[in-house]
Amino acid sequence: MMKAVIFDLDGVLVTTDNSHYLAWKQMADEEGIPFDREINERLRGVSRMESLEIILEKAVKPYTSEQKNELAQRKNGYYVQLIQQMGEEAILPGALDTIAQLKEKGIKMAIGSSSKNAPTILKQVGMDKVFDAVADGNQIKNSKPAPDVFLLAAELMNLPAEDCLVVEDADAGVEAAINAGMKVLAVGFAAGNQKAHLHADTLKDINLAEWIVKQQ
Ligand code: BG6
Ligand code: MG
Repeated sequence: MMKAVIFDLDGVLVTTDNSHYLAWKQMADEEGIPFDREINERLRGVSRMESLEIILEKAVKPYTSEQKNELAQRKNGYYVQLIQQMGEEAILPGALDTIAQLKEKGIKMAIGSSSKNAPTILKQVGMDKVFDAVADGNQIKNSKPAPDVFLLAAELMNLPAEDCLVVEDADAGVEAAINAGMKVLAVGFAAGNQKAHLHADTLKDINLAEWIVKQQ
């Protein structure tokens, strides 16, 4: 029985996906590494270090692991500066209404994000008290498409995987949800992902609470 929703954060509830792009772009420009929005799409849902490896595919010189750590830290510094200026305006269309409707129906909610900055972001946008559980990049070893972060979110809510539906904007995240044995609503960039069970451009375009109640 469907009892809970696990939301990805970046690109599903908040616009931080663009801030990730801007921060990587600044670092890549400084290093003279070609990087654009098309390459950026491959970074959705992927951990910081794995994202860096994708960006470095276009680098003209090799980087030592120490240098790679510095690049990742530099990007994160730029990113943190951006998210520190962020407030409620960063919340994506339909996110607050969806959360309110789910709450009204007694459906549990969690975050399942690859980001180590998830707790900061939730605080910035005033969502730090909203969720029954937060599973993020600080608590897991294998990032999406591995199922770990979603399985942890379910465990923190004391629910089996099959009782949870994931909302994702990344193909890697859709894959992770399926690997976890969960249903998945694909939104935004992943809205066309045929492996997902449900599709919507934004959370505004679907009544998720109603859909879940119908499954019960
Ligand atoms: C995911 C983003 O949510 O978090 C990725 O979609 C990002 O783009 C990843 O690389 C890790 O984020 P952070 O904040 O730990 O660098
Ligand atoms: Mg995302």
